[in-house]
Amino acid sequence: MNKKCELIYEGKAKKVFSHNDENKVMIEFKDDATAFNAMKKAKFEGKGKLNCLISAKIFEHLMNKNIPTHFIELKNENTMIAQKIKVIPLEIVLRNTAYGSLCKQTAIKSGTVLAKPLIDIYLKNDELNDPLITKDRIELMNILSSKDLDLIIELTLKINIILKSFFKNIKLQLVDFKLEFGYDLKDNILLADEISPDNCRLWDLNQKNDTIVSLDKDRFRNDLGGLIEAYSEINRRIKNFI
Ligand code: TMP
Repeated sequence: MNKKCELIYEGKAKKVFSHNDENKVMIEFKDDATAFNAMKKAKFEGKGKLNCLISAKIFEHLMNKNIPTHFIELKNENTMIAQKIKVIPLEIVLRNTAYGSLCKQTAIKSGTVLAKPLIDIYLKNDELNDPLITKDRIELMNILSSKDLDLIIELTLKINIILKSFFKNIKLQLVDFKLEFGYDLKDNILLADEISPDNCRLWDLNQKNDTIVSLDKDRFRNDLGGLIEAYSEINRRIKNFI
């Protein structure tokens, strides 16, 4: 039976469809953008394609460095084929530089380079507004074992080292990013979701002074304009580098 086009899940920025092979899914990247838990919404023509292409390249780069990810291949410019996973309902944020919610919630000054990467973990639950969560609460809620949480943290730190250097090569400062993980059918932990300017803060290092030029979703979050131009620039730099 061909179940190829059955929509299994629709999120804020992506749609997940079943695949003929039941171990796989097809992930279509949408042009929709949301911020502040979808309080703010817009559509940017071409964003889906750019995020799909950027994510594919980054997943390939990570897999070449032995990071397990759900990515299999691109189906077309908007759609990737990925391994079917059981999503772990956590958003793992790693921060190299203080910005965004960290500065709103602490007295740390925006732009401060952190002495070591900070990992903040949020519960992936829109109804609860994705609250910051503790290790003990994760165990209490039986979301995953402390061994698997440690593994995810270790993977996130490794991914940061790889991505920081990758982006530095294309003159971008990796300020922070958000990752999601899941279990494949054999219970291996894989990096899932996407790695794109929607979930990474990337600052242009080609600036002469210390001006912050965001080439990421902050262009939408902070009404800076030029989102597609920024994402296209990232895609262009990645294509020229790889
Ligand atoms: P924050 O400063 O708003 O906590 O964001 C930290 C990083 O996580 C930033 O790169 C944006 C990303 N992020 C998401 O990808 N999804 C989200 O829902 C949030 C809140 C942040």
